[in-house]
Amino acid sequence: MSLDKVKLSASAFAVAALVTVSSGLLETAPAYAKTSDQPAVLNASAIAVADKFSADAAEQIFKEGGNAVDAAVAIAFTLAVTYPEAGNIGGGGFMTLYVDGKPYFLDYREKAPISATRNMYLDDKGNVIKGMSLFGYRAVGVPGTVEGMWEAQRRFGKLKWKQVLAPAIKYATDGFEVSEQLQQRRDDAAKDFAGKTNFDTYFGNLKQGVNFKQPDLAAVLTRIANQGAKDFYDGKTADLIAASMRGHGLITKQDLHEYKAVWRQPVEANWNGYHVITAPPPSSGGIGLVQLLKMKADLAPDFKDVPLNSAQYVHLIAEIEKRVFADRAQYLGDPDFYKVPVAQLIDDSYLAKRAAEVNPTTPSDTKSVQPGLGTSMPEKAETTHFSVIDKWGNAVSNTYTINGYFGSGVVVDGTGIVLNDEMDDFSAKPGMANQFGVVGSDANAIEPKKRPLSSMTPTILTKDGKVSLVIGTPGGSRIFTSIFQVINNVYDFNMPLQDAVAAMRFHHQLLPPNTIFWEPYKPIEGELAQQIEAKGYKLQGQDFSGDIQVIKVNGDTPEPAADPRGRGVTRMVQ
Ligand code: DON
Repeated sequence: MSLDKVKLSASAFAVAALVTVSSGLLETAPAYAKTSDQPAVLNASAIAVADKFSADAAEQIFKEGGNAVDAAVAIAFTLAVTYPEAGNIGGGGFMTLYVDGKPYFLDYREKAPISATRNMYLDDKGNVIKGMSLFGYRAVGVPGTVEGMWEAQRRFGKLKWKQVLAPAIKYATDGFEVSEQLQQRRDDAAKDFAGKTNFDTYFGNLKQGVNFKQPDLAAVLTRIANQGAKDFYDGKTADLIAASMRGHGLITKQDLHEYKAVWRQPVEANWNGYHVITAPPPSSGGIGLVQLLKMKADLAPDFKDVPLNSAQYVHLIAEIEKRVFADRAQYLGDPDFYKVPVAQLIDDSYLAKRAAEVNPTTPSDTKSVQPGLGTSMPEKAETTHFSVIDKWGNAVSNTYTINGYFGSGVVVDGTGIVLNDEMDDFSAKPGMANQFGVVGSDANAIEPKKRPLSSMTPTILTKDGKVSLVIGTPGGSRIFTSIFQVINNVYDFNMPLQDAVAAMRFHHQLLPPNTIFWEPYKPIEGELAQQIEAKGYKLQGQDFSGDIQVIKVNGDTPEPAADPRGRGVTRMVQ
């Protein structure tokens, strides 16, 4: 699949909500502690979400007294209904939280099925079988979203589980009006799935302007509301998923039964007076984002007086990105399988050394840019987006995905659940690019129960212990380069938030060599294109450069912004 045809479908949302916290409570009772009432520190709740229905859901939850985590979970389930191209219960994701002044990270990424094998997408000659990790039953990883939402809400939520499921159930039962963008994405995806999956049985009638109901999905959500995550992993829904896989795919009841979400230590770094809290492995995004931010800071003299998005700016950023993607390809994978050298990869002196390799005038030869810690393999281990900020100063940044739009195109019979194609995020063969054009090493080879390497980067910036920015986006390997650019626009160029989000974005990822990807929303053309080409770069269009959902806190007022590239909305809730 060519890069300009990359189809992307993660969904990110940002919420600022009413959350009640109890100082120190989590310290003494780390698991499943409930927050309690505290005076508000912000003058409103605010949300930036991928569609208006999930915004309504979040508003309802705030009005019922729910906190940021309750709102986030309600948004996630609602998007599974009203944003079916990416919102999901058949996929997985990451949640970065800042609760009661402390950072947390929840990994509910999909896992490879137990019977998955390293070469499962290769033919007899060892060549990758086109499309096999992207479409149909064998592309599906064991979904983690329901377990992730259950775990987050159980630990930090304030409302009853049933209350946070209620808006999603209503939209599935009563239907919602289909947007132009959703129908367009359905039509595009349906072409890929034609003859391969049962996609049209469920989504054949999805038409712009028409009310779309999903009774099977309503029944699943109702069971989950009544029985919790257990229904999905051990109950009737588990039976239906396993039955639909039988004879077609690898996921069994045992896979579902054994799935667990994991609380991990987030990647944390100090940058420009802010504390960055972001995604650790199995995401490459947090490390990538910190590397980008720090190397750009190291190169401040080179960036001095260089105008934003000028040819020289594009060149310098691309040089930094080259080095980040060289490290990504070599060192990153599931930390439950490989000891990823996180501390070394974000170490100040290591990054200063890497930044010093940047050629300030012309593109470095791609082949000369090698992984910075040496090419040895990571040591094998023995043992393994929405964003939210609330009136009480707590935040949730969540990115979740089914990978391509409508994932694998497989809908579980009798449920309406769209299953992911996250298996494509593994390296089907070391050195072979996936749909995002990124390559990987052994660290990201397929192994049973392993999580595929991700780029999702739900991020929170704090200053003096208070949340300053909650940010995230879909976009595959474009995720952390997009977030990086918006953060630069806000903090280095002091742009108003909405302008920072709307500004032109570009992307480089080492391979293909010296190629700068541009987006249809703000194409690189005319004189700028000529200047970039004159520096030795090729320009290539891509159809997507993210859908940023962000909240910035200005004093005691949260300011949400939704990317004009998508159908996201913002709302303030008093
Ligand atoms: O985990 C990842 O990095 C990808 N599966 C995310 C896919 C994505 O962002 C699609 N976006 N529009």
